[in-house]
Amino acid sequence: MDKFIKSLKSFAKEDFPIKKVSDFILNSNFSKKTLDKYSYFNEKAFARNMIYKDQDFQILLICWSPGQLAPIHGHEGEKCWFKIISGTLEICNYKLESRSPLKLKKIEKIHAHKDYLDGPADIHSVNNFSKDPVVTLHIYAKPYDSCETYDIKTKQIKRMEMKYHSIDGKVC
Ligand SMILES: [Fe+2]
Repeated sequence: MDKFIKSLKSFAKEDFPIKKVSDFILNSNFSKKTLDKYSYFNEKAFARNMIYKDQDFQILLICWSPGQLAPIHGHEGEKCWFKIISGTLEICNYKLESRSPLKLKKIEKIHAHKDYLDGPADIHSVNNFSKDPVVTLHIYAKPYDSCETYDIKTKQIKRMEMKYHSIDGKVC
């Protein structure tokens, strides 16, 4: 993980060039032992486990129990990638056509498997529709601690605060 962080630090100096960073994440592999330290699930909601954070980027391991999902949300204009470490997720990508009244167009629905790299993401929902747990590795450049969520039914845009389930391998 130290090597991975060191490389991301050097990409930070170039403002995270999309192609280079995407290729780098796709080609990065982590041992089960390395990731096990951060693999915490939460029965209430998907668990955000922080591996590393500085002013330029953060790395999270997100653990999804069967049925857990992230509602339609944005990424604060930042560059955000995630890679599926294990399991299968449904990702729906949207285009924001209007904020008021709220109008979103679903442009893509993907059943993504192990090693799939998503991003940089714009507006999407992520759903573990499977019967198995899913683990994903996320790189957010830059870090942010809240994001907008879009509720198609009520046509409301809300701000969601994002909390960590664990930091550096310790549940908080
Ligand atoms: Fe996302």
